[in-house]
Amino acid sequence: MTNPAQNTWGRDQPIGVAVLGMGNVGTEVVRILRDHSEDLRSRVGAPLVLRGVAVRNLDNDRGLPPHLLTTDADALVAREDVDLVVEVIGGIDPPRRLILAALNAGKSVVTANKALLADYTGELAAAAERSRADLYFEAAVAGAIPVVRPLIQSLAGDRVNRVVGIVNGTTNFILSAMDETGADYEVTLKEATRLGYAEADPTADVEGYDAAAKAAILASLAFHTRVTAADVYREGISKISSEDLETASALNCTVKLLAICERVPAGPGEPSVAEGGKDRVSVRVYPALVPRKHPLAAVSGAFNAVVVEAENAGRLMFYGQGAGGAPTASAVLGDLVMAARNKFYGGRAPGESVYAELPIAPIGDTPTRYHVNLQVADRPGVLAAVAGEFAKHGVSISTVRQEGHGTGARLVVVTHHAVESALADTVTALGEMESVTSITSVLRLEGTEE
Ligand code: HSE
Repeated sequence: MTNPAQNTWGRDQPIGVAVLGMGNVGTEVVRILRDHSEDLRSRVGAPLVLRGVAVRNLDNDRGLPPHLLTTDADALVAREDVDLVVEVIGGIDPPRRLILAALNAGKSVVTANKALLADYTGELAAAAERSRADLYFEAAVAGAIPVVRPLIQSLAGDRVNRVVGIVNGTTNFILSAMDETGADYEVTLKEATRLGYAEADPTADVEGYDAAAKAAILASLAFHTRVTAADVYREGISKISSEDLETASALNCTVKLLAICERVPAGPGEPSVAEGGKDRVSVRVYPALVPRKHPLAAVSGAFNAVVVEAENAGRLMFYGQGAGGAPTASAVLGDLVMAARNKFYGGRAPGESVYAELPIAPIGDTPTRYHVNLQVADRPGVLAAVAGEFAKHGVSISTVRQEGHGTGARLVVVTHHAVESALADTVTALGEMESVTSITSVLRLEGTEE
């Protein structure tokens, strides 16, 4: 009888690794592979051998023997002695072509490429399935923080209802600094760029595209449903002002760019889940007020954190470094060891799980709480009229406070949960009221139970 645990790969048979890209992450991946080769060999069962690194040009001194460097990534992927491919180039092409070539050739792939995964996981997973290769991507969401594997494996027997995270370090650095210093957005962005926290073109981070790609990946895993970047409602932080942070402070809150993936119960008039109806999935990225006592409010600087709420596990929180060469490389190496072990023992990673096929809930149907700040005329009946507009649109008020008086009178309204469309209609109606001089800010409020 054969021993089922017996490996299918010789102990001295090298497992060849190609690394595509040698930026911050690729450099650290190569360093760890070389510095810890003996430990990695013991953990895998066979030696992991670096066959080559694909770079854009050969001019820079990268401290590697020249024979390991190439500009021909396609040829490196195709080499017979390459068994595993690490893609840390970023962007859609050429990574998409290179990853598909590797998977089609039965070579397992480890990637940190959130933008590619957010749009093409289906295509990549299908290629992996056909050739029985593995596709691993822990590093694509929140750098070093293990959150992909817990969602795929540890929570495979539970029902996830919500994933809320701070998954972009650049914006968290900016918002934390604005909170601490009182400085405005533009000043703080400049400082973040000077310190290397923001890129020269910060659009992907500050406008929420990076977080939206990560939210799509998290939602797909949490709800066993294919979610792409186009399904994610997105607002960035570039319109957040120092006044918004002041308002937040007055409410004992701070402002965070949140990625929220939520199971939304079937809507009114639709069959309930028990009757065969379907929950829906809401995936959104926007800046929101978060109470200071909420665990995500304490996540400051460039750190990331993800809170997962599951029916049986309850609330889980994952916290750590969401970017940077070595932290991201740690996640890549974890995946690489898993992929190499699968080669050695003959196993496979779990494939894509999208059986639930839950529909995406439009942002208008998504319930949230709101904070609305209005500049108003200070005379009898104004508060009642403002409250009346909320009532007319079915938005229930939780608290209302007047600040200042005379020409400086402001009303600060916090609502109970209301759907976005009802709030939007309320705001439009408030804007048309003669007694409302201006609507200074409308901010969502997350992380409260009411
Ligand atoms: N630019 C991202 C951030 C890291 O600021 O968190 C890579 O996803």
